[in-house]
Amino acid sequence: MATTSSSTVGMGNLSSLLLPSRLGSNSGDRFFHLKATTSRFIPRTIKHAFAAARSIRASSTALVETKPDFVLDEKKLENCKNTLACPICYVPLIYNADSSLSAESAMRPNLQCRNCRKVYSGNDTHLDLTITSGSKGYGEVRPASTELFRFSLVSFLYERGWRQSFSIWGGFPGPEKEFEIIKDYLNPVLGGNIVDASCASGMFSRLFAKSGLFSLVVALDFSETMLQQCSEFIKQEENFPKEKIVLVRADISRLPFASGSVDAVHAGAALHCWPSPSVAVAEISRVLRPGGMFVATTYILDGPFAFVPLLRPLRQNVAQFSGSHIFLSNRELEDLCTACGLVDFKFTRNRMFIMISAMKPK
Ligand SMILES: C[S@@+](CC[C@H](N)C(=O)[O-])C[C@H]1O[C@@H](n2cnc3c(N)ncnc32)[C@H](O)[C@@H]1O
Repeated sequence: MATTSSSTVGMGNLSSLLLPSRLGSNSGDRFFHLKATTSRFIPRTIKHAFAAARSIRASSTALVETKPDFVLDEKKLENCKNTLACPICYVPLIYNADSSLSAESAMRPNLQCRNCRKVYSGNDTHLDLTITSGSKGYGEVRPASTELFRFSLVSFLYERGWRQSFSIWGGFPGPEKEFEIIKDYLNPVLGGNIVDASCASGMFSRLFAKSGLFSLVVALDFSETMLQQCSEFIKQEENFPKEKIVLVRADISRLPFASGSVDAVHAGAALHCWPSPSVAVAEISRVLRPGGMFVATTYILDGPFAFVPLLRPLRQNVAQFSGSHIFLSNRELEDLCTACGLVDFKFTRNRMFIMISAMKPK
């Protein structure tokens, strides 16, 4: 490793699970329908994963009926003040204590934009700060690289083998080692707040919170099922510092943070999944305070891949088909950061794996 400065699924057709589709709040219903239609044809391990993924959803529902685990208490609210912002207006959200709310809703945070007056609320696991939060009639399909991670099964499998496979094919060092390198890069901003962008089931968000190195961790992802899984993992851990973490559903292209309000953004294995890396990194640059740090990991197809004919035009097709971006050189990532107003680009490589860091100018 080198560090350098510079709807229905046909019977047995499990592949249909991986097709992009619109998933709303009824995604779980479709999931159970799928289980019923395929149950005789799927191996025991997959059945087990289905059952466990169902229990994620079931226990989350049970929580709603008792006491929501996720409440923005006063201390957290104080911590998030001036950071959490309306994804439409980018102005900080204010706490909306509406006495007309039902007892259950009153236990949940209601945050309001002081500009457009839109109210954002949370469920038992996360705050929904997407632009379409609360809309009932409107939905849009995202690229496959976003939709894939909204399936309960994918969220269940993510930390149960999926993420670990990155080490085998890509040279990712694994969460503990990656965390050590991240800490080095983030040294200048330790003690501040951190956004774990596209956190999935919160592998790194949990490490950040438990490390005690940050005042607040925002675990952010577009996938509701990933955030539910993250909440499950947090509940399973004894003495987890819950007061240090907030789970937020948001789109990387429209971050719900005030400009210049974030000390650090980490994005593990996500750059290549974002619909437009440049729009996302520009958003990250917007929310970082002067001197704030961006650290991210992804993979690069260079070395022997440089000899693959037509790789450059081919990646256009991959991007159009899957929404996934293939990076071909370190230089490309440096250009991306520079184009988005970040400086002091550094990187660490191991085979296809790359970790980059860049800073918002002071
Ligand atoms: C491969 S996972 C990375 C998870 C984790 N950070 C890690 O290091 O393993 C990619 C994540 O990007 C998220 N993602 C995809 N499109 C997104 C978007 N538009 N906004 C926010 N997150 C998105 C997915 O939901 C998924 O959880």
